[in-house]
Amino acid sequence: MIDQNNISEIIIAPNSNNPLTVKRIGYGTMRLTGEGIYGEPPNRKEALEILKKTNEYGIRFIDTADYYGEDVTNRLIVESLYPYSSDLIICSKVGATRKPDKSWISFNRPENLRTSIENNLRTLKLEQMSLVHFRVMPHSDTPFKESMDAMFELQKEGKILHLGVSNVNPDELNIAIAMGTIATAENMYGHAQRTTLKTAYGENRGGEEILKICEQNEIVMIPYFSLINSLPKKDDRISNMAKKYNKTEAQVNLAWLLKRSPYILPIPGTSSLKHFEENCESIQIDLSEEDMNYLN
Ligand SMILES: NC(=O)c1ccc[n+]([C@@H]2O[C@H](COP(=O)([O-])OP(=O)(O)OC[C@H]3O[C@@H](n4cnc5c(N)ncnc54)[C@H](OP(=O)(O)O)[C@@H]3O)[C@@H](O)[C@H]2O)c1
Repeated sequence: MIDQNNISEIIIAPNSNNPLTVKRIGYGTMRLTGEGIYGEPPNRKEALEILKKTNEYGIRFIDTADYYGEDVTNRLIVESLYPYSSDLIICSKVGATRKPDKSWISFNRPENLRTSIENNLRTLKLEQMSLVHFRVMPHSDTPFKESMDAMFELQKEGKILHLGVSNVNPDELNIAIAMGTIATAENMYGHAQRTTLKTAYGENRGGEEILKICEQNEIVMIPYFSLINSLPKKDDRISNMAKKYNKTEAQVNLAWLLKRSPYILPIPGTSSLKHFEENCESIQIDLSEEDMNYLN
């Protein structure tokens, strides 16, 4: 069971034979890449320093993908953290790849998923992935169920310990749950943008639509774009709360996620060491019920 009152730790797959307990702030590596989420980081030294600091801050959950770069964040993780400590969870995602023009395309046929898992294992120097999300690229030709069948097969073979889904709508999440154990769901979610957003780059499925299903099924919800969609909107309620706690607006956004549901595991991304440290410290804010009502 996930502890409803624990804002500092969370258990992934609590009812499985291999539950994973982590601090309730992870780190998303996507912002460590070059322009357009491609190529080497502009400040390689700082990127490596951030990853090394995860140990110091007790961050045991790192989100990556082989299509960040490509392979760039996986290589940086190895360079900074290998050999890994046994409690570190490196979570990757499959279902997409990149074209040389940096555009994102689906890569979700069963044979593609196998290739991606093997590439992640090789580039991360792992024998087994602790957690992998099947990332839905909406409107792709491959039926969701066919991709998920392949993911469960890869899990049976021992290449993956826990399975998650990402960018799912409620129907897809329910289909996945009916097929087997789903540990996590990674969707776009933050204070200022909670529901699905269609942009020129694609369709980002919102967390609000799936949060209840996650809670009912003890699935940890991992929000993405929590800061990038919220900080530019300059919400007075957030800035007032930041003043009240003498914290930054980014920290209040993350504290709001931690209080919104005990099933949420934030993974803020940053390429700045200062922001990384700030984000880690957001766990110290324990918003009251009154604060949450005010922030709504
Ligand atoms: N499953 C999916 O489909 C999916 C999609 C997108 C992302 N993800 C994952 O989710 C993670 C989080 O998403 P994200 O990195 O795109 O966006 P995010 O966490 O919402 O925000 C990152 C942005 O916020 C800024 N930022 C971070 N901390 C800040 C702070 N304390 N103060 C001010 N600005 C701050 C960063 O700039 P600086 O670099 O200057 O700090 C960056 O521009 C990614 O890293 C990735 O691992 C998953």
